[in-house]
Amino acid sequence: MKFETLTIHAGQEPDPNNGAVMTPIYQTSTFAQDGVGRPRDGYEYARTKNPTRLALENCVAELEAGSHGLAFSSGLAATDTVLRLIDGGDHVLAGNDVYGGTFRLFDKVLRRFGLDFDFIDTTDPESVAEALKPTTRMVWLETPTNPLLSITDIHAVSEIVHAHSNHPLLVVDNTFATPYNQRPLELGADIVVHSMTKYLGGHSDVVGGIALVKDKALYERLAFLQNAIGAVPGPMDCFLVLRGLKTLHVRMERHAENARTITEYLSGHPKVAKVMYPFHESHPQKQIAVKQMRTGGGMISIIMKDGHDAAVRFAEATKIFTLAESLGGVESLIEVPAAMTHLSTAGSQLAVDPGLVRLSVGIEHKDDLLEDIEQALK
Ligand SMILES: Cc1ncc(COP(=O)(O)O)c(C=O)c1O
Repeated sequence: MKFETLTIHAGQEPDPNNGAVMTPIYQTSTFAQDGVGRPRDGYEYARTKNPTRLALENCVAELEAGSHGLAFSSGLAATDTVLRLIDGGDHVLAGNDVYGGTFRLFDKVLRRFGLDFDFIDTTDPESVAEALKPTTRMVWLETPTNPLLSITDIHAVSEIVHAHSNHPLLVVDNTFATPYNQRPLELGADIVVHSMTKYLGGHSDVVGGIALVKDKALYERLAFLQNAIGAVPGPMDCFLVLRGLKTLHVRMERHAENARTITEYLSGHPKVAKVMYPFHESHPQKQIAVKQMRTGGGMISIIMKDGHDAAVRFAEATKIFTLAESLGGVESLIEVPAAMTHLSTAGSQLAVDPGLVRLSVGIEHKDDLLEDIEQALK
C-alpha cells in the first residue's frame, strides 16, 4: 500500500469485538487471564502491552518501513531508552547541532552514568569517519537538525558507521522530516526516533515519542527496556497520535508549500541576514536534502541582521504565528531558540546565534501567514 493509505489503515483493523472502525482507547491497566500464566493474546499488564499503543506502534513502523515500533511517553523518553542499549564506558558520536534537550540528556545526565559523548559536524561524513573510536557503540544523527536545519547524508554516514569493527548502531532522529519526507531505515539507519509531540501528532495536543527498528533482535532488546524502564504513553495519547497520523501526508504537503513561499519572501528581506531551509538554493546541503527528502518540510530558521533584540521584537510582534516552543502542529509557531528551546545549550559547544528565529509554518492560508510576517518585520 502507498504511504497515503498506510497513514489511515496500517496497524488498524476494525475492533474484533464490535467492529468499531476507530481503534478504541483501551483505558485499562490490566487484562483478565484465561488461566494462571495464560494471558489472552499476550496481554497481561498495560506497561508491557496495550492494544491502542500496539496499533500506533505498528502504524508508525509501517510508515517508516520498519518491522516494529516502541512508543514512549515523550521524545526524550524514547531517546533515553534507546541509549540504554549501550553500556557505561561506551562512546556515542552525536551531531553538534542536535535538539537542545537531546544534548542536555546526553551531556548532563547520561555522562554521569559513564557514557562518553563527542558532538561533531555530521554534515561532513569524513568527520564522522575520523571521530569514530574503538569504543564507539552508537552514532546519533538528527537531519534536518533543530534549529539550524543542517542536513546529513544518512546513506553516506551509514556506510562509514557499518564498516566500523565495533558495529555501532546508527540512530536517526526523524522528527523534523517525518516518514512522509524521509525514511532513514531505508537509507541504512538501525533505529529511527521521533518526538511524536510534533508532526506525527500534528495538533499540539499530546506529548509522545517512538522508536522504530527493522530488526527483530533489536526490537526484542528495546521491548525489554521499554517494559523494564516503563516510560510508556497512556492509551488516550496513543489514540490522539493515531488520529493525527491519518492526515500526515496532507498536512506535510501544505506545511511544505507554505514554508516554500515564506522562505522566498524572507530570503529577500532587508532585515534578514540569513535564511535556512533545506530545499532553498542557499542551503549548503541542498543537494543532499533533495536526494533524501521528498519536500523541504515546514520548518524555517532565520538570523536577524540586528541580532537578539530584533529577533525578540519580531517574535513578539506576530499575530497568527503564536510565540511558543514546540513545532509541527497545524498552527504556525515562532520562537527565539537562544532564549527558549535551546537555552540549555547556552555557553556550550551547541550554543545558538542569539539573533536566530525559528518558524514552524502551519497549514493556515499562506497569504495570511505572509501578511503576518510582513507586519511583524515592519
Ligand atoms: C528533534 C527533536 N527531537 C526530540 C525532541 C524531544 O521530544 P519531546 O519534547 O517529545 O520529549 C524534540 C523536542 O522538541 C525535538 O525537536
